[in-house]
Amino acid sequence: MSPGVHVASDSRALARRAAEWLVERTRAAVAARGGCAVALAGGSTPRATYEVLGASALAGAVPWPAVDWYFGDERAVPPDDPESNYRLAAETLLAGRPQALARTRRMPADAEDAEAAARAYGRLLPDPLDVVILGMGEDGHTASLFPGSPALDERIERVLPVTGEKPPFRRMTITPQVIETARDVLVLVAGGEKAAMLARALDGPLDVRAVPVQLARDRAWIVDRAAASGLRRP
Ligand code: 6PG
Repeated sequence: MSPGVHVASDSRALARRAAEWLVERTRAAVAARGGCAVALAGGSTPRATYEVLGASALAGAVPWPAVDWYFGDERAVPPDDPESNYRLAAETLLAGRPQALARTRRMPADAEDAEAAARAYGRLLPDPLDVVILGMGEDGHTASLFPGSPALDERIERVLPVTGEKPPFRRMTITPQVIETARDVLVLVAGGEKAAMLARALDGPLDVRAVPVQLARDRAWIVDRAAASGLRRP
């Protein structure tokens, strides 16, 4: 198991540890460079972290006025849609924080001209990002980079419209270079149903086209004990 993997006892402990990690990394970025650009993920595992960070005393340690929030992917739905990653962040991490919401840039996956909107968001996205938060699907996808996706071969654009494997199918996602160049990346994985894929991602042969989350293989991971049950012990 790579040194970057932290095993939390359960999903609540995972969310707490991930919230502490995010506070620590945003503070370090602001101390070093005067600002911090964070790309958030969607999904239930990242959501639990946002809920803990947004509602706990930890929130007082976030350097909110110096943090800009972006997204690693988004579904092609309006910002108030229950499937929206923007709405997910707005009703958890950013709830009751209008100044932070004003520093948040929604990924316009539902734009009429998705190609042009993706290109524009790719130019807007700081290069490199300071922090990228990622989840992992049971199929090994991360952000909206799904196994076998042509987006995995993209080396020019930083954001692309894609068709995902799980509904809502029309999405927009960061491309591999955005993950590769980010200063810090954290992957959050919970649940026994992901144990086999997590073991393949961390201990199996490197094959990013088959297991896109391997783009972050050597980065920081916080997983719960159930998801870690298939990992080789150090
Ligand atoms: C999305 C996410 C996606 C998510 C994983 C894990 O928009 O769906 O960005 O990559 O992080 O599918 O989601 P769960 O934590 O809910 O399993």
